[in-house]
Amino acid sequence: MANTFTEPQPSPLALLLLGHGSDPDSERGVECPGDLPAPSDPGLVERARAAKDALGERVFVLGHHYQRDEVIQFADVTGDSFKLAQQAAAHPEAEYIVFAGVHFMAESADILTAPHQQVVLPDLAAGCSMADMADIRQVEECWAVLEDAGVADLTVPITYMNSTAAIKSFTGQHGGSVCTSSNAQRSLEWAFEQGEKVLFLPDQHLGRNTAVRDLGMSLDDCVVFNPNKPRGGLTDKQLQDARMILWRGHCSVHGRFTPDCVDEVRERVPGVTVIVHPECSYEVVEKADAVGSTEKIISAIAAAEPGTAWAVGTELNLVKRLALQHPDKEIVYLDRTVCFCSTMNRIDLPHLVWALESLAAGTVVNRIEVDPDTAHWARVALDRMLALPGPSAAKD
Ligand code: 13P
Ligand code: SF4
Repeated sequence: MANTFTEPQPSPLALLLLGHGSDPDSERGVECPGDLPAPSDPGLVERARAAKDALGERVFVLGHHYQRDEVIQFADVTGDSFKLAQQAAAHPEAEYIVFAGVHFMAESADILTAPHQQVVLPDLAAGCSMADMADIRQVEECWAVLEDAGVADLTVPITYMNSTAAIKSFTGQHGGSVCTSSNAQRSLEWAFEQGEKVLFLPDQHLGRNTAVRDLGMSLDDCVVFNPNKPRGGLTDKQLQDARMILWRGHCSVHGRFTPDCVDEVRERVPGVTVIVHPECSYEVVEKADAVGSTEKIISAIAAAEPGTAWAVGTELNLVKRLALQHPDKEIVYLDRTVCFCSTMNRIDLPHLVWALESLAAGTVVNRIEVDPDTAHWARVALDRMLALPGPSAAKD
């Protein structure tokens, strides 16, 4: 049997600090130049507003729910990854799309927008640690292992939106699709209409939660492919028996929530409803009362009765905002130790002001541009997702 696995090489970027150096294949980002205003500058809000007004309809600002309040106030639309991908495609009038989010979202926006539009990420160091857990070379090696085990022809790759454009492109080229946390169930149902197995990248938790909870599989139907072990750490038989081959990736923010957090909050807040994002582990999701994407968490809390109590297992900027927006409800963070997504937080008001003022002055900074070959197949995978029937609702 051919050994298709090559020993993992230490990444030359292993010690790359956020915001320094350059790596086009990584979500870590590259150098962020620019004469940024000091964060303490009292005129920042005014400057952001003035630059945005000067740009008028030429700019459209997309804001992910995990962004800071100081930034989200300038978003023309806020949303989860799915809604923002739709919105990016829906504004051909805007010459510039400024993405207040992270690198993989801006890449997707570039792929989905027209050639005359340019996508700007105010800080190129706004990456995603989960997306960094799957490198295209590792995914190609994984596919070679599947070929060697005789299962590649039966396997449909599905990649979570939180992945590089190169991986989305691989997925498109191999008959697969992108999914987000709001349509993972529908994407997997679609995939199992096309093949017998799914290779799910890069978030093992979203893959497992959806397969077991929504599609009725057993935990034994799932195996975890570890890219840092020879042949993923799996035997051919394990690959042949599995229905879900989960990539060993996770979100460092949602990975903080444990089953103990759920027990603890139930003791601390009587009658609390626990709602979590599907990037949380299976054990946490099983203990929670409800699970859903950021958009679904927002609508579930908005629709709740006054006086109800909610413990929310997702990123802190969003949980704090929900608490402010719903003073008639008790809204707490699921973990006692609070934690922001550090890369989402890289987009701050100085960077936003710098990006908008530069655009207003005729200079495009921090443009995110996916090369045409990669973009072609990534678009195929994104279009397959966008063609699916609408996102499924949050589940109890
Ligand atoms: P959604 O926006 O799909 O809920 O995903 C959350 C997330 O972690 C984005 O990075
Ligand atoms: Fe990535 Fe997790 Fe941050 Fe989302 S919350 S950008 S998945 S690290």
